[in-house]
Amino acid sequence: MLSNSRGPESIRELAQSIGCNAGTAPEAAEFGDMIFVAIFLQDYQAVPRTPLAGKIVLNLQNYFPHLGQIEELDREIVTTAELLARHLPESRTVKVLNSMLVQDSRPAGSVGRRTIPIAGDDVKAKEVVSGPDWLRLCRCRTSFRGVAL
Ligand SMILES: NC(=O)c1ccc[n+]([C@@H]2O[C@H](COP(=O)([O-])OP(=O)(O)OC[C@H]3O[C@@H](n4cnc5c(N)ncnc54)[C@H](OP(=O)(O)O)[C@@H]3O)[C@@H](O)[C@H]2O)c1
Repeated sequence: MLSNSRGPESIRELAQSIGCNAGTAPEAAEFGDMIFVAIFLQDYQAVPRTPLAGKIVLNLQNYFPHLGQIEELDREIVTTAELLARHLPESRTVKVLNSMLVQDSRPAGSVGRRTIPIAGDDVKAKEVVSGPDWLRLCRCRTSFRGVAL
């Protein structure tokens, strides 16, 4: 399920084109077993907490201070990964895919493939993200826009 801030109608056509449904962020959070969060970091508190309890949440966010400074990050009190993990204490957050653009992905065996760093405190969640289910998910035509699965 794909979601954004403007509502499901605004992305229904896009969602259909990649073979998934469109919904609100809470609906997408409820629907998925593994959720991508790729909204601007400054909006992280809009990510719904309750429906994500116990689920693997992939944090793709990077900090762009020109969009709004976050003092805790500027003072290096927390990291971008810790910020979302703190907001979602009951979720299994993994920092991944923030270091590459959609257009950088390449099929297995291609020249110029890149290593994807994975970080997080939940060892089993990191195993899922680097295991066969994750690879199957990556082979789907996914979108990184908004909260998607
Ligand atoms: N694009 C990439 O390939 C890529 C790769 C790695 C990391 N990232 C990271 O992803 C973040 C977003 O960057 P971007 O360039 O992809 O931005 P973008 O093109 O502007 O996309 C942001 C998306 O988030 C949605 N959104 C905003 N607030 C939301 C909310 N409260 N609930 C649900 N959806 C919401 C927006 O929906 P509306 O348009 O309806 O507002 C939009 O679809 C950044 O932290 C960036 O570093 C992006």
